[in-house]
Amino acid sequence: MSKQVLIHWPGCQSTRCPAGCDWLDAARQAGFAIPTGCLGGSCGACEIDVNGTTIRACIATVPASKSGELTVELSTDPYW
Ligand code: FES
Repeated sequence: MSKQVLIHWPGCQSTRCPAGCDWLDAARQAGFAIPTGCLGGSCGACEIDVNGTTIRACIATVPASKSGELTVELSTDPYW
């Protein structure tokens, strides 16, 4: 069984999902829409900040976190 990670979404929602699940699925469960474009990792539309690190949600999976928690923020990338 993979480890559960507690994810804090922008706007105070928190959900749990297993490490290794898709960010887009995890966001959907939280009722949080990550904007997407290419779904292939090249356009950057889906970028979010996870514990201060920018990732592309469409090609990344939820990492195991040492603390068991991750905080998501909308990316401040100029693409936005
Ligand atoms: S949707 Fe284009 S990089 Fe993720």
